[in-house]
Amino acid sequence: MTRRLLVTSALPYANGSIHLGHLVEYIQTDIWVRFQKSRGNDCIYVCADDAHGTAIMLKAEQNGISPEQQIANVKAEHEADFAGFHIAFDNYHSTHSEENREFSRFIYLKNRDGGHIATRPIRQLFDPEKQLFLADRFIKGECPKCGEKDQYGDSCEKCGATYAATELKNPYSTISGATPIEKESEHFFFKLPDFEAMLKEWTRSGRLQPEVANKLGEWFESGLADWDISRDAPYFGFEIPDAPNKYFYVWLDAPIGYMASFKNLCEQRGLNFDDYWALDAESKTEVYHFIGKDIVYFHALFWPAMLDGAGFRKPTGIFAHGFLTVNGQKMSKSRGTFIKARSYLDNLNPEYLRYYFASKLSASVEDIDLNLEDFMFKVNSDLVGKVVNIASRCAGFINKQFDGLLSATSAEPELLAEFVNAGTTIAEHFESRDFGKAVREIMALADKANQYIDEKKPWALAKDPANKEQVQAVCSVGLNLFRQLITYLSPILPVTAAASQQFLNIDSLAWHAREQLLLGHKINAFTPLMTRVEKDKVQAMVEASKEDLAAVAPTVAKAASKTEKASTIEAIAPTISIDDFAKVDLRIAKIVNAEHIPEAAKLLKLTLDLGNEQRTVFAGIKSAYKPEDLIGKLTVMVANLAPRQMKFGVSEGMVLAAGAGGKEIFLLSPDSGATAGMKVK
Ligand code: 2FM
Ligand code: ZN
Repeated sequence: MTRRLLVTSALPYANGSIHLGHLVEYIQTDIWVRFQKSRGNDCIYVCADDAHGTAIMLKAEQNGISPEQQIANVKAEHEADFAGFHIAFDNYHSTHSEENREFSRFIYLKNRDGGHIATRPIRQLFDPEKQLFLADRFIKGECPKCGEKDQYGDSCEKCGATYAATELKNPYSTISGATPIEKESEHFFFKLPDFEAMLKEWTRSGRLQPEVANKLGEWFESGLADWDISRDAPYFGFEIPDAPNKYFYVWLDAPIGYMASFKNLCEQRGLNFDDYWALDAESKTEVYHFIGKDIVYFHALFWPAMLDGAGFRKPTGIFAHGFLTVNGQKMSKSRGTFIKARSYLDNLNPEYLRYYFASKLSASVEDIDLNLEDFMFKVNSDLVGKVVNIASRCAGFINKQFDGLLSATSAEPELLAEFVNAGTTIAEHFESRDFGKAVREIMALADKANQYIDEKKPWALAKDPANKEQVQAVCSVGLNLFRQLITYLSPILPVTAAASQQFLNIDSLAWHAREQLLLGHKINAFTPLMTRVEKDKVQAMVEASKEDLAAVAPTVAKAASKTEKASTIEAIAPTISIDDFAKVDLRIAKIVNAEHIPEAAKLLKLTLDLGNEQRTVFAGIKSAYKPEDLIGKLTVMVANLAPRQMKFGVSEGMVLAAGAGGKEIFLLSPDSGATAGMKVK
């Protein structure tokens, strides 16, 4: 029976580029969706950019553009990256859309009228300069427990203590450097405990992976709390109905973005929204959310509760995956393993990564590792050495000696039946997201197909014209086996599958079509289906990902929360025009004084001479330089950076340096002959 499914991947933030960590999820979801489609199910895959929140507002400000322009730029970049990896969304929308505004309003009002919204004043830290309330990630200070400097407002990276931002000693805003003040304001809360009984029942009904259900059990035990869903202006988002200057917190309208994107698709395709989201749709339509394990709380508690409170159906399942490590370690900019989608695409075939991730993915929340050596080895040995090899070994004989015609009967009915029947188990593995198991089964079959060809040796048979028919029979079996393999691989390798389909001259690579063998069938000319991964391309990608020119800004606003950290680590570096570049006034500066600031962990206070004036600049280079070694040196500074109020004074520019941080910070310095004040061009 045909199933009807709606599938989503988490919505990426509109302030950063897609990187390989994100792609684990999009590739996982895309493979699953393509598999469902191949099985003949009616499956729709939607996504959108997650466009709201303070981080995006600040990013736009930093880029000197409006939030609307910021999110439009990033959306175009995201869509191009996804297309590059063959992620085939049925619709890609934005949470900053009319559909989302309406659904957010509707869901909120239903919950409010149902008595599930409370309001009460809370006290928070406020940046008196920027005039905004500060989330924990925009506040730093000394750990109230161990005294470590420069710790975020929620927890200490040194001693692990968790605390309220108001407990930090000597706190400062990472946005302006100003000392925050405590200020009260009215907040809106979603009363999650109202839904406890429903959620307990829902989470125990087999919709979640066992490890996720266990985690939820722990959360229930420690008790559910009201959820703060409002943020005060200025905020980029939707204003809360009947509450001027109060905005929905980005996480309130983000999952609603799944619905909004789907609604937008309904308008395009004339689909019936209620068939998917009405209360009674639960029995006829399956809804699945693929997410990272860091955002389970939002999807398995808040989201079903909000839906319940608003009279909508709840998801059929939530599929959480683990994080990506590269070469066994956290992705790292200095090692060049924080790889953006674009840097990958500039160097390598996206299907290599789709295959490698598939070979590593399972239904569990375990992290997966991209080992670059193993990546090259696996792709070259499995895809090029085994699968594509079968086709290239057989196609030449069929095309040259038989004008492309395959034998009219199968010489190996049992072997072929074995390959066809294996599709049942392989399909089960795909269905349960055990892609690694599916890949292992497929590769075991590929080994068998190669063994068959090795044993029959069509190249030896071909030497004697008396064996002509046998050559055709063996190669026809080989190509039929190849067709089974490429059918199974088609959710993973859509482009190679399409090229194979064209070469095999068949109408469909859908799962069930494989049962019809290719007998007395004419194939097309063979063109190489995939080339080997080249080591120097992998190296080039890693080199291109190394971030070694770091402008050493005195304070860097870290626009990432606990949950955002895992998926959006990187800020976008948009391409700039020569005119943009011309706006940066780079000057040779002489360091006439450099001194320690006893309370600052990373900063040195520099006095820079520009020929006709002196500037004070706070630079985060303490870990690499002794002040006395700097005095008298020439360096390069950005001379027209707007002055910034820091905790220790006003910083009037920025010096440029390269390096990974720590001891590896290298101030740029000109060749001899340069003098203070010279323009750098
Ligand atoms: O963690 C993130 O990257 C969020 N932008 C995911 C949102 S998923 C959904 F709820 F919209
Ligand atoms: Zn501490």
